[in-house]
Amino acid sequence: MDHVPVMRDEVLAWLAVKAGGTYVDATVGAGGHAAALLERAGPDGRLLGLDRDPVALATAGRRLAGFGARCVLRQARFSELPAAAAAAGIDAADGVLMDLGVSSMQLDDPARGFGFRAEGPLDMRMDPGSGETAADLVAGMEARELARLIREKGEEPAARRIAAAIATERARAPIATTTRLAGIVERAAGGRRGRRLHPATRTFQALRMAVNREEEELEAGIEAALALLRPGGRLAVIAFHSIEDRQVKHRFRAHAGRAVALQGGGVRMEGVAPRVRVLTPRPLRPGPAEVKANPRARSAKMRVAERMAEPW
Ligand SMILES: C[S@@+](CC[C@H](N)C(=O)[O-])C[C@H]1O[C@@H](n2cnc3c(N)ncnc32)[C@H](O)[C@@H]1O
Repeated sequence: MDHVPVMRDEVLAWLAVKAGGTYVDATVGAGGHAAALLERAGPDGRLLGLDRDPVALATAGRRLAGFGARCVLRQARFSELPAAAAAAGIDAADGVLMDLGVSSMQLDDPARGFGFRAEGPLDMRMDPGSGETAADLVAGMEARELARLIREKGEEPAARRIAAAIATERARAPIATTTRLAGIVERAAGGRRGRRLHPATRTFQALRMAVNREEEELEAGIEAALALLRPGGRLAVIAFHSIEDRQVKHRFRAHAGRAVALQGGGVRMEGVAPRVRVLTPRPLRPGPAEVKANPRARSAKMRVAERMAEPW
């Protein structure tokens, strides 16, 4: 059950984890990466593990109990990272990890409403204690808004047709389950034939992102992580779909400054003073053996940035 976390060896190497360091795992999940970080940072390195999902945090708590006071866990969202770090007495970190998306624990539990293969309530909240559910969104949004959401956050070409079908069906009866929504999407998008992805995949991704305000959280999380890193400290982010990966790339770039080639050779930095050096011009991918052993790794892309010393 304690399966190997995605790109574990790459995470340890690229975060340059060292004995005695201070680390933040902002997506502690089942605690797989956290355990690896704590082992590598032993015997006295520390880790703050965050997750917005209380169920994940409880699982991580059991898995990481052996590390004692070296590991502190808190229920928090990315945007709450500054407060969580302060509460844990951490004012600077050597490394921060964000392994985005949902965990297999969340995906495989029909009661959480993330998957469409087994019937469950249309929920999708990573923190079941707060915010609107996917069923609330599907019930309350105008068809046009819904179409925009599915197109923009799901990159779904059939978004208009899907939104129209949802509007027709919800007028008959509220759409309360994952399987009912999946069926509606599948019929509207023209069935499964010849597709690699289930036709509901993109619509479910869009709703999940909206329910959990994932883009806003990622933005806040990257800013908070970079602010917390000490010079030389590193942030590694693992994304699982193109919208996330693009966002990480752009946020990193925005902090990296702009290098302009000089005629006489060398470069000059333009614009804001660079705060980070991007260590991965192209995202890192898992090796073929990992992809074979863990299908979830297939779409993983990891980007790493290193905090630079303040220029003043
Ligand atoms: C892919 S799993 C992490 C798995 C973990 N690395 C491991 O080794 O077990 C992602 C986790 O991040 C959490 N998460 C996603 N977005 C979050 C956010 N904005 N704030 C806090 N936790 C978040 C999810 O609840 C989920 O448990």
